[in-house]
Order: sequence, then C-alpha cells, then structure tokens
Amino acid sequence: MKVLAIESSCDETAAAVVENGTRLLSNVVNSQIDIHSAYGGVVPEVAARSHLEVILPVVDKALADASCAWDDIDAIAVTYAPGLVGSLLIGTLAARTLALLKNKPLYPIHHVEGHVYANFLVEKSPSFPLLALIVSGGHSQLVLFRGHGDYELLGQTQDDAVGEAFDKVAKIIGLPYPGGPSIATAATSGDPSAFTFPKARMQNPYDFSFSGLKTAVLRTVQHETGVAYDFPSHQLPERVSERLRADVAASFQHIAVETLVDKAEKAFRDYSPASVVIAGGVAANQELRRQLSERLPLKIEYAPINLCTDNAAMIASLGYYYAQANDATDPRDLEIVPSLSMTKTAWAK
Ligand code: KG4
Ligand code: ZN
Repeated sequence: MKVLAIESSCDETAAAVVENGTRLLSNVVNSQIDIHSAYGGVVPEVAARSHLEVILPVVDKALADASCAWDDIDAIAVTYAPGLVGSLLIGTLAARTLALLKNKPLYPIHHVEGHVYANFLVEKSPSFPLLALIVSGGHSQLVLFRGHGDYELLGQTQDDAVGEAFDKVAKIIGLPYPGGPSIATAATSGDPSAFTFPKARMQNPYDFSFSGLKTAVLRTVQHETGVAYDFPSHQLPERVSERLRADVAASFQHIAVETLVDKAEKAFRDYSPASVVIAGGVAANQELRRQLSERLPLKIEYAPINLCTDNAAMIASLGYYYAQANDATDPRDLEIVPSLSMTKTAWAK
C-alpha cells in the first residue's frame, strides 16, 4: 500500500510517499526557515501564504521522486492536528481536494503522534511496548505505546516545550533561529560545566518544566554582562562575548538534555519497554543521542536527522498503520484541530 502524505502544520511544507509504512519512496520538504529567520520566529500569516504557494509543486515533486503516477497511490494521509490554524488549513484543503478529485481514501493524522513514526522508517522497526520521548518546538512528553494507536501519556511539560527553551535561550545569547541547531553548534566550543543551571522538580516524575531554566539562563547572562535584571533581553546579545555565548549554550544544552534523559531512564526502569525511541525536532540533537545511549542499557536506533524535524514521511508511515484499523474520513467533513493533546487520540480498535 502506497500512502501519499501532506504535512503543513507549522513552517515546513512537506509531501512524501511511503510504502507499507516502512519503505520511504520520496520525501520533499520545503522549509520556510529563511523567510521566518528575519523575524526571529515563525510568523503564522506568512507561513500560511508560503504553504499556499508551494503545496502543489511539493506534492508533484513527491510523486515524481517516488516515480509514481496518481494511479499508483492507494491513500492520502494529512496532518489535521495540532498546529497553526492557517498552516493546517492549507495542507488539509489540498489533501481533501486531491482525495475528492483523484478518488483516494483520506486519513487524518496527528502531527505529534506522527513524529514517533520517523522511527518506523529505519532499517528495523521498533518493537512494542515502546517508550517514546517526544521533544519538539511545541511538545515535550514521554509516551508508552503498547501497540499502534494504543498509548498512555506518562508525562508532559507543564510550561515551555524543550525546543521552545532552545529557541528562547538562543535569542537571549544572540544565536539565529531556529535555536536548537544554533545552540548545538555553539555548544561544541563551550564548556558544559561553566554554569550550573537548575533542574525543575516535578510532582509527577515524568512531567517536565523548562521555563525556570530559561529564566535562570537570562539571569546568568544579565549577571555576566554586568546589567540589571530589568535590562531588556533583546539588547543583551550585543553584550555577549563569543566565550560567554559558547559556555552558556553548552551549559544549557547539557542540563536540558540531562533532564530529558533522567526522565526517560526512570520510565525505562519503571516500565521495561522493548524499545526506546526519540522523536521531534530536538531528537536531532547529538548530545541527547550521546547521553541517552550512554545511560540506557539497550541499543537505540536513531532516525536520520531529516526525519526528526517536520516532514511528511512520518505522516505517511503512521497513515499506513492508521488505515489498517480505521475507516477513511469523508474529505468533505475533515476539520482541523489546532490544539489537540495526544491523550485524546488513541485509535486502536
Ligand atoms: O518537530 P519540529 O521540527 O517542529 C515542531 O513540531 O515543533 O521541532 C522544531 C524544534 C525547534 O524548537 C528547534 O529549535 C528544535 O526542534 N531543534 C533542535 C535541533 N534541531 C531542531 N533542538 C536541539 N538540537 C537540534 N539539533
Ligand atoms: Zn513537529
């Protein structure tokens, strides 16, 4: 079964073709990073307009790269939740229209759940029960999957997502958007023990909190640059030296990653999963991969970096498994759901 998927929940316009949930035939991602970096973050209106301009060429390229004609495609999967309203609307409207025109079954896919399925596009699919650490710009959560569409949320962030913390800290020290990769690069020339930043203690040991860490970084940078705590943070970067920037990046990354790994390790001991995967944009982080492999007593097969950040291949993979257990959705009825937590989307029958 060949699934064509469309993903446009944030600032990447993407389409991909995947066979039987595991075989990647094509993966096209049109990133808007260049457009949004001038503003230091994603501008929703600009994102929607850009999706509209490129969505059909991106779909055509995904078909061409997979050497597929429409006749070869068995189903369409599309991200319908969660994400930016305008962005989700463009992707779902394209998918609904194509499903009607080309007479293909349509399956609505949850973006965050989709991130986990990047791990089904590697050589050997992970086995259940599967512990997933999902870490992106909008989400930080630990989820235990007992099977496809059958999962339990163990914990999640109570404030900022970890990717959001990377992005905000990058702004404080004057590194470009998106902050995750910029911090990872700057950290390579910094000292991870230069500053001791705090780890939040949570009532539920699997929950996360990153807003205190972000504030601690801000206070440290204000202190180190000799300004008062009410000094505007947007004027800080010009006062930050190369050395301070690298040391803050390394110390922040070290503690943020260690926090994620502490919780994943606890969940691993408590639930004894058969496999552990990481998913979402922050899963691209090499320090996270290094610490996790060091502390967990099982071999983790990591997805390639380009399948960790937003893409449609992961949506096509999940689309295949979802289609095994669910009827197709009427293209005329599919609605977007901009905020939908993973707790409400278990779909196994
Ligand atoms: O999954 P994603 O592409 O979009 C969302 O669904 O949010 O994740 C984007 C997030 C951003 O916050 C970005 O800074 C972060 O992933 N990110 C990273 C790295 N690459 C991307 N964070 C840490 N290290 C990286 N190498
Ligand atoms: Zn994402």
